Amino acid sequence: MMCPRIQEFSSSRLRGLFLDFFKDKDHTVVQSAPIVPDDPSLLFTTAGMVQFKPYYTLESEIPFSRAVSIQKCLRATDLENVGHTIRHHTFFEMLGNFSFGDYFKEEAISWAWEFVIDVLGLDKEKLFISVHMQDEEARKIWREKIGVPEPKIVGLGDEDNFWGPAGLTGACGPCSEIYIDLGEEKGCGKPDCGVGCDCDRFVEFWNLVFPEFYKDEKGKLSPLKRRGVDTGMGFERLVMICQGKSSSYETDIFLPVMRALEEKGSIDSGKAKIPMRIVADHARALVFAISEGILPTNEGRGYVLRRILRRAVRRGRDLGLKGPFLYELVGVIADSMGSIYPDLLRDPGKVSLVIKGEEERFRSTLDEGMGKLDALVETAKEKGERSLSGKEAFLLHDTYGFPIDLTVEICSEAGLSVREDEFEKEMALQRKRAQETGEFLQEKEERKVWKPWVLVSSGIATAFVGYTKLSQNVKVRRYREGEKGLPQIEAVLDKTPFYAEGGGQVGDCGRLIGPGIEVRIETARKEGDLLIHCGEFVRGEPKLLAAPGLVAEIDKNVRDAVKKNHTATHLLHTALRTVLGEHIRQSGSFVASDRLRFDFTHFSALSPEEINSVEDLVNEKIQENLLVKTSTTSLEGAKSQGALAFFGEVYGDTVRQVIVGEKDYVFSRELCAGTHASHTGEIGSFRIVSEKAVGSGLRRIEAVTGRAADEYLDEERNFLTELEDFLKVPRRELLDKVKALQLENDRLRKKLDALQGESALSIALKKLEEEPILVNGVRVLTAPVDAPDIDTLRIVGDGLREKMGRGVAILGSAISGKISIVIAVTDELLREGKITAGEIAKELGSRLGGGGGGRPHLALAGGKDPEKLAEGLETGRRLVEERLRAG
Ligand code: SER
Repeated sequence: MMCPRIQEFSSSRLRGLFLDFFKDKDHTVVQSAPIVPDDPSLLFTTAGMVQFKPYYTLESEIPFSRAVSIQKCLRATDLENVGHTIRHHTFFEMLGNFSFGDYFKEEAISWAWEFVIDVLGLDKEKLFISVHMQDEEARKIWREKIGVPEPKIVGLGDEDNFWGPAGLTGACGPCSEIYIDLGEEKGCGKPDCGVGCDCDRFVEFWNLVFPEFYKDEKGKLSPLKRRGVDTGMGFERLVMICQGKSSSYETDIFLPVMRALEEKGSIDSGKAKIPMRIVADHARALVFAISEGILPTNEGRGYVLRRILRRAVRRGRDLGLKGPFLYELVGVIADSMGSIYPDLLRDPGKVSLVIKGEEERFRSTLDEGMGKLDALVETAKEKGERSLSGKEAFLLHDTYGFPIDLTVEICSEAGLSVREDEFEKEMALQRKRAQETGEFLQEKEERKVWKPWVLVSSGIATAFVGYTKLSQNVKVRRYREGEKGLPQIEAVLDKTPFYAEGGGQVGDCGRLIGPGIEVRIETARKEGDLLIHCGEFVRGEPKLLAAPGLVAEIDKNVRDAVKKNHTATHLLHTALRTVLGEHIRQSGSFVASDRLRFDFTHFSALSPEEINSVEDLVNEKIQENLLVKTSTTSLEGAKSQGALAFFGEVYGDTVRQVIVGEKDYVFSRELCAGTHASHTGEIGSFRIVSEKAVGSGLRRIEAVTGRAADEYLDEERNFLTELEDFLKVPRRELLDKVKALQLENDRLRKKLDALQGESALSIALKKLEEEPILVNGVRVLTAPVDAPDIDTLRIVGDGLREKMGRGVAILGSAISGKISIVIAVTDELLREGKITAGEIAKELGSRLGGGGGGRPHLALAGGKDPEKLAEGLETGRRLVEERLRAG
């Protein structure tokens, strides 16, 4: 036992002990920041210090110089290790104390020691220390102030003992770690096993970082403005140590979820240790992340989530769990952690729905894909190969949604590697193909081949004046003509009112005119630093582009329509977040003059009521005629005002905000460079035209505004009028009319079927009279029947049974592209016990390549090829005759 007071150390008590200890030392207790950090260079919050990053670097005021926190963290770096070791996790909690320009190494080390020895009562004999090999100062403090014997202090290099920064830039510095020796039995037994070894014996549980450098984008280190302390203790590891458990999965943190898994049926928890741990870990990560509104998607954080989910689903399959199971763990996790992280209790039902949907989608392809992968592994092994080709891994990814790490893991369990460089090549090719055929690109003109640029005046940057001006006197800086005498032309200007395609908004169109020259500009776009106007000559020739007196003017009508759509897109975004929830994130948009398109993350289709509410809310804001204004601020300023920014977008230091509403009522605030209406009333009206899925967890809304919205309504009205004329009822009665027609149609169909049955029966009866075939005195009738469905065929069979005396009827029909043959045996014959319809149908079905069987008096055989009906009937007759003769 590691710790003498194990019983006392429940996980919730340990959290309290840590916070109280540092609170007593004047630290401000700070709540955990979200898992999605406010830092575009980081996908997730990976450490306690992430929310404090600016405090080490900025010269601005800091609210406190000492802080203590318990931070929820997500790291995908250890994904492969999770479950295979006793201590790795994707989601975990990090206990940390921090100093910003306040205390440094001496206090950090002394307090850490005081906490582990005096408060937790860990056995000092079992503790080991690592320091950075050049950090004499830290080594000295451990040795002289704390009294740790020199042999138990290990010096390691940058790889192990230099930490940070989190993300691309920021605070970093040497660190010192505290390890515990869990005993030889946990070790790998290698002669050099010791502190820093990857095995489970020496577990690092507390990292004390001494940030004293700032790392910039180029990797250069400079002294930090506020050097300080950043410590991080892995909470799950600490609880494992204090509760004397042999892995973090056996602590009270994981107990509820592990128990829930065990109860899921016939899981042998001894054998299933690793898959169970993986499922338990991944389920926590999913629940925490999805509760914050991240959804599984195909890129960025969403993709990390999808990978985690798919790995968990695969392990559930290994555990023999049928169907979706992960979603059932949401409640267990929310119940056990919700008191500490109230986000989890906000809408666990929604989280379950998201997980269940993803699970269901992936589970069916997983079952198929595993079959395929097993076969690939088998073949590779038979051929004596030691790796799987990247192309095959790519096909698994593309067809079955196997993330590459999953393929690599499954292969490595079978002793094969995966040629990942080939996989990357295939992915790059696919991205290129997607770009070439992507919808957005299709909407652009085809790429042309150009002659070299002709430089007219110096400079390449173009001043955009189009927020306020529709036309502008301009000078051409450079132009180029299309190859082979094409009339196409591209030009770069010194100034321009033309908005270049970007941020989802199409480029402006218009014209460039001057003495003897007119160019129709179809669009403007950016290529690197160049803002290129793309058009076609209406009049004049290229060299006139170098002459003075040119004016660039945009098509006002088109711009106006685009503006309305762009402002409406912002209203739509906020309306979706209001109606469906804060988890909605824009994942793409397309704003043109005739329509707008908005892609966003959401886990299910919108109901008609939700679509109505969204549409109504947008129209309400249009009617309120809210002011739309723009303001330029710092990125930080914009974010602190709550502006919607898009992850993965790179913004400069100053950003433009588009704000809908006035000071006391702001409906929408987004970072955006596009052109907008000046009041929402200009939009006129807004109609959603369609809502559909465009990927897993991704929805697309298409909508129209202004005149296009009116036209859309006109079209709908015209359509209703046409329908009224055609059905000769007023529109309020249309639905009743259609229902009545449908009922009438059903009634007639039934009648027709019955008539067809009767007529088929009378034809068959006639045939019976004409050509009775007797086998041992039994009448055997074989006939094709014109039956619309199997029921009719049965009715005819039954009808014949009553008329045949001792007889068997074999009646066939081609129905829905297949053969159906009914065998009917009369009661008189049945009583003799010679033959049953069921046995004949069974045999016949198997000969025809379909199934067969049924009751003794009436049975059905099926066959695939309708061309072979006659042959099938003949086979049926032979089978019956053989049977009768044998009897
Ligand atoms: N930032 C350090 C870590 O993540 C200590 O908090 O390990």
